[in-house]
Amino acid sequence: MNINQKELASSLGGEASIKRMDHEARADALEDHMSKQLDAAVAARRSKVDHTVCELETLVDKRGYRRGAGKLMVHEFNMRDPEPNGTGSKVPRLAPMPAKPTLVDFFVHRFDPAAHLLQSARLAKKNGASEEIVLACLLHDAGQYLMRAEHGYWGAQLIEPYVSERVAFAVKYHQALRFYPDPSVGYEYPEAYYGMFGVDYVPAPHIKAAYDYARNHKWYMDARLVTTNDLYAFDPNIEVSVDEFADIIGRHFKQPTEGLGRDTTPVTHMWRTMINPDAPL
Ligand SMILES: [Fe+2]
Ligand SMILES: [Fe+2]
Repeated sequence: MNINQKELASSLGGEASIKRMDHEARADALEDHMSKQLDAAVAARRSKVDHTVCELETLVDKRGYRRGAGKLMVHEFNMRDPEPNGTGSKVPRLAPMPAKPTLVDFFVHRFDPAAHLLQSARLAKKNGASEEIVLACLLHDAGQYLMRAEHGYWGAQLIEPYVSERVAFAVKYHQALRFYPDPSVGYEYPEAYYGMFGVDYVPAPHIKAAYDYARNHKWYMDARLVTTNDLYAFDPNIEVSVDEFADIIGRHFKQPTEGLGRDTTPVTHMWRTMINPDAPL
């Protein structure tokens, strides 16, 4: 469980009163705080109505956006808005990109705050993953900036010319693996997916086929490690800078000298789309 230090301190009467407590009183207070947090989380979960696949389907033409639209294409707030919209938040004006954009430039100017990617990479590093897995975690949802639907495939394609086959494999197959528990590494079906896909959702045949393929592949654990470092990488209290991974990016991401979106790989247009997602055609 994540402890919000500020919330905890204020619930105990501030830093000064915490300092006056002895160790036992502090431990009791912490336990009490955690128990209240847990109760609140369970209550929030119970009060939430999870839809069935069929119910989610009826919402499709009640929205002003497609759920699969990329993060750079629709304001995040609108994506959470359950009501038909068109009046929601506006997308921000994007900063101009350098003439020869690097991966770090994309993190700074297009993916920011990228908290989930950065926290996931830090978690992988902390868990002792290899540098390639740390890079895979750092990039695992990068495809979502272009397209949320099938994001593992978009993401893998986006980075394929610049990373090892193994990193692209891990990014591609994490999408399918997320639906399938693996008790051997403590990976459970994500609770959030009941709300996102429907309580009675069964993965599409191509996802099942991708899972079966990856499950029997020699690099299975690479993709699996992306999912285990993915699930827990949402903490609003942690801020991670991309600078923390500059050395790993330098060693494992083949940055084109002309810049991403300015080079001649088969995916350069995908980076260019992110440089200027306001282009009308
Ligand atoms: Fe993902
Ligand atoms: Fe993720």
